[in-house]
Amino acid sequence: MADTEPAPQNPDFDRVNFLELRNSQLAEAIKRVESERHYMEAEILRLQREVKRLKTELDRLRYPPLIVGSVRDILTDGRVVVKSSTGPDFVVNSAENVEHDKLSVGCRVALNKQTLAVMGVLPASVDPLVTASEIVEKPNVAYSDIGGLSDQIRDIREAVEYPLLRTELYKKVGVEPPKGVLLIGPPGTGKTMIAKAVAHHTHATFIRLVGSELVQKYIGEGARLVRELFQLAREKAPTVIFIDEIDSIGAKRLEVATSGDREVQRTLMQLLAEMDGFEPLANTKIIAATNRPDILDEALLRPGRFDRIIEIPVPSYQGRAEIFRIHSAGMAIKDSIDFDALANHTDGATGADIKSICTEAGMFAIREERDYVTAADFDRAVEKVVGEEELRKESVTMFA
Ligand SMILES: Nc1ncnc2c1ncn2[C@@H]1O[C@H](COP(=O)(O)OP(=O)(O)O)[C@@H](O)[C@H]1O
Ligand SMILES: [Mg+2]
Repeated sequence: MADTEPAPQNPDFDRVNFLELRNSQLAEAIKRVESERHYMEAEILRLQREVKRLKTELDRLRYPPLIVGSVRDILTDGRVVVKSSTGPDFVVNSAENVEHDKLSVGCRVALNKQTLAVMGVLPASVDPLVTASEIVEKPNVAYSDIGGLSDQIRDIREAVEYPLLRTELYKKVGVEPPKGVLLIGPPGTGKTMIAKAVAHHTHATFIRLVGSELVQKYIGEGARLVRELFQLAREKAPTVIFIDEIDSIGAKRLEVATSGDREVQRTLMQLLAEMDGFEPLANTKIIAATNRPDILDEALLRPGRFDRIIEIPVPSYQGRAEIFRIHSAGMAIKDSIDFDALANHTDGATGADIKSICTEAGMFAIREERDYVTAADFDRAVEKVVGEEELRKESVTMFA
């Protein structure tokens, strides 16, 4: 039942309808413009940010270049002694934003071109020519600091020190000194000490390289580092190169080789090539040390390489007494200490063990607020360190 009756004719109806329609159209338009305005405002903000970004970028690019230098010393007043890659040393201030705990002697820094003020701390470089100051050192160990190894000290002086000092004499007499000396012996017996003492007494440049560091720290760079070190050694000759823990790079090659093994192998090949590359009478000598001579690659021991082996044994009774005397010399001791008795009770102890006994004796005094050490402190220290040693050995055999 559709309603067929037409709508009543209202003359105003169309007009009202029209106005309503127009109204809604205008409202729509307002909405659109409003949203356009929002969009534009957002766009303005975006562009303002972009301008700001480009301005800082421009500033950054216009920033004057910084000079690379290294820190020589840090003064108590906070100023820093720097050395730029060229030229002399300068005392300078450092910028406020530089983290002072990161500043240390030997680290690389960026310097303002005009004032040479420290602007930032740079990460260490692996390039030995840049960080030469880290690798080249003047050790502070004298032969007299080493107890009980007089034969070994004589051997190494004949093999390393005299050829460096008296090259002409060796040439005239016609004997070829060894190119490389290998120190073998248990840990803590003084191998590193001896190498340092040689460098101390020869006044030669001393370049120290630790095998395990070479493998872990300079991954993929080992061979290059070895090459550059020998280059550095030639430039700074006379030089003693000391390779500590050489077993890390010079272990026998096994059949199954991982990529890490291959990298270690490349480092070793480079080392062998460098050693073969110079004359026995050249003023570069190589000392290496290891506690694991049994795992060394024979290639290292061929003539013309490490062809002089010096064994550094665990100290004898007399050696131990001597080492006790050396390490307690700087201590405030009451009465007198019977070093021979101490040596008697420390059979099998290494130099490093004896050093820790002396430190431990001092600790007993400090714990009891005394400013002197007594014979009883030493006895307790021996008991403690030797006891710990025994425990350690037991656990080693347990796990072996
Ligand atoms: N023969 C020694 N005379 C004096 N001190 C020694 C001796 N051997 C070892 N020491 C002490 O032990 C520490 C470690 O010795 P180190 O030379 O590093 O042993 P190695 O290199 O053979 O493992 C030295 O810093 C030193 O204090
Ligand atoms: Mg050592």
